[in-house]
Formats: sequence, C-alpha cells, structure tokens
Amino acid sequence: MEKLLEIKDLNMYYPISADTSFGGSKSFLRALNNINLDINKGEILGLVGESGCGKSTLGKSILKLIEPKGKVFYEGKNILDFNSKQLKTFRKKAQMIFQNPYASLDPRMTIFSILREPLVVHGIRNKQEIKKRISEIFNLVGMNEEDLKRYPHEFSGGQRQRIAIARALILKPDFLVADEPVSALDVSIQAQIITLLKDLKEKLNLTILFISHDLGVVKYLSDRIAVMYLGDIIELSDTNSLFTKTKHPYTKALISAVPSIHEKTLKEIKLEGDLPSPKNPPKACKFHTRCSECMEICAKKEPEIIKISDSHYVKCHLYD
Ligand SMILES: Nc1ncnc2c1ncn2[C@@H]1O[C@H](COP(=O)(O)OP(=O)(O)O)[C@@H](O)[C@H]1O
Ligand code: SF4
Ligand SMILES: [Mg+2]
Repeated sequence: MEKLLEIKDLNMYYPISADTSFGGSKSFLRALNNINLDINKGEILGLVGESGCGKSTLGKSILKLIEPKGKVFYEGKNILDFNSKQLKTFRKKAQMIFQNPYASLDPRMTIFSILREPLVVHGIRNKQEIKKRISEIFNLVGMNEEDLKRYPHEFSGGQRQRIAIARALILKPDFLVADEPVSALDVSIQAQIITLLKDLKEKLNLTILFISHDLGVVKYLSDRIAVMYLGDIIELSDTNSLFTKTKHPYTKALISAVPSIHEKTLKEIKLEGDLPSPKNPPKACKFHTRCSECMEICAKKEPEIIKISDSHYVKCHLYD
C-alpha cells in the first residue's frame, strides 16, 4: 500500500495560563503524545475518541494549521518545514471540513462567490473555466445549480455541509480532513452526508481522515480506525478486526457502549470514573484510572505500541 502521509513523533503542547500568583511558571497541555501514524493513499482512516482527546489537534497539525513538534511527510516531504510558497501549493492538495459549516461560509457572499474565491486565490481567472468547475463540483455534491445565486442562510444544515464540501473540493485536492462533519446534523441527514463522502472518495480518488466521537459513524465509513485517549493513539486497526478482535480495554468499553454496532458479543463494560483532565493526565498508562483490567505495572510504566498483526496495533500491557 502506498503511503500518502507519514506522521513521525508528533507532539503538540498548548500553552495554558498557570496560576502565577504563587510563583508558578508557564505550563503546557500536551494534546498529542508522540503520535506515529501512516495514512495510505485512497483510504478512509477513521479517528475516534471522547471529546478533548486531541482529534482536532491531530487533524489541524497534519495540515500545518497549527505548529506541532515532529514530522509530517506528505508524499515524502515534511510539510512542517514548508515555506509560505510551498504551503500555498500544499493547501491546494489538502483541505479540511468542519462540524459547523455555517461558521466558515461568509454570510454576505453568494454560494457562487464562495466557491469562486479559492480558484481566484490560486490564480484561476478564466471565467468559463471557473463556471465549469463550479457547476461540476456543485452537481457532484448533489446541489442544484440555481442555488448558486443564493446565500448561506437560505440553506439547511445538511445543504450547508454540502456547500462546504464543494468548496473544499473545488481545487481538486487529494486529501481531506473531515472533522466531525456530521456531528451537528440530524441522524437522517448524517447518513446522506456520509454516503456522499464515500461516493466522492471513489469518484475523485480522495484520501480522507474522518474524525468523529461516534464509533457507529466511523465504523460504517472507514477502512481503518485509530482510537485516541488523552493524546495517545491506543489502538489502530483495520475496521473489521477492531470490532471482531478488539484488544484495548478502552476500545472495548467504547464499542460496548453502542449496542447496535457489536451484535451483543460484548457484555457492557462500564468506564470507571470520569475522563481525567488533559492538563494533568495520569502517569504511565493514561487509562489506568478507569481500566477494569488494570495491573500493577500499568500505573508504573507507559506501555509500548505492540503489533498484533500487520494491520492491528495496540498500546496496552496486556499484550506485552
Ligand atoms: N488553542 C488551545 N489552547 C489550549 N488548549 C487547547 C487548545 N485547543 C485545544 N486545547 C485542548 O487540547 C485538548 C485536545 O483538544 P482537541 O484536539 O480539540 O480535542 P477533540 O477534537 O478530540 O475534542 C483538549 O484538552 C483541549 O481543551
Ligand atoms: S495498560 Fe493496563 S491500565 Fe492500561 S489499558 Fe492496558 S490493562 Fe488497562
Ligand atoms: Mg474536535
């Protein structure tokens, strides 16, 4: 399998305001803990985990929308070293869509202008070419060309997400980061947008990182799935084995919490306690405070990532 993206030793520290009144120094929240991950050409990789575990941070990091530490190789080149000219070229190839498309669609612009803007920014000025590209992509996302003269507020949430997808795809990118693109939509509309993304991936040869806190959504769409917990990827697997040969106790708990996706093969595993604060995560295995299979070593030593098979990895002492 050909790799599109190789993430090496990626770390992200956010500065947070510490209480300096007692002489405290500036402190940091470690949102990504040494992430190593490949994304293969043409796949949909699902990224799942509870809110605050670092999914959006990882998505933004690999597009250099924020400044993490480490390396992100895109087609062999480290994008974190790119200068502004290289970044501009990269931005044509790699795009992001968000949970709330309304926030990213300028309310004063018509849909046509919204879709034209990225083309103009990237030097496409020929009016016929612009019209052709816009109508092609608008049809592909299942919208009606008459709607191009309307404004964002005239559309439903699902239609706005289609418009945001059209804008993300107008420059014919190869890679798309979709950050919770259906989380704000009604369940019936969610299915339409997911089907659309799957369809667009095939038609346009896209590679997609699909972020969601909802395992059910991720299962339907993804070729592989990475599970995150407090800044770590704790399990990475092809979708089938993740559900049939689940390894990590956290993944088991996540799956067992969604009865419709595991055919009652797992008895419900309750997560103990609350999610710890990412500002002060537990030492060693970060999951040990909630794990029903916790052993002595788990609070003392951080587990390594262990290869279960060619397509299945887990970070847990049970498999040492
Ligand atoms: N700009 C920021 N400054 C400080 N902390 C942040 C910032 N953005 C995110 N965080 C923190 O980093 C952690 C990961 O956040 P995020 O990547 O948004 O998680 P997710 O997308 O999984 O909900 C959270 O604890 C969040 O509060
Ligand atoms: S390393 Fe230990 S505490 Fe962590 S998930 Fe595995 S068994 Fe549970
Ligand atoms: Mg997020």
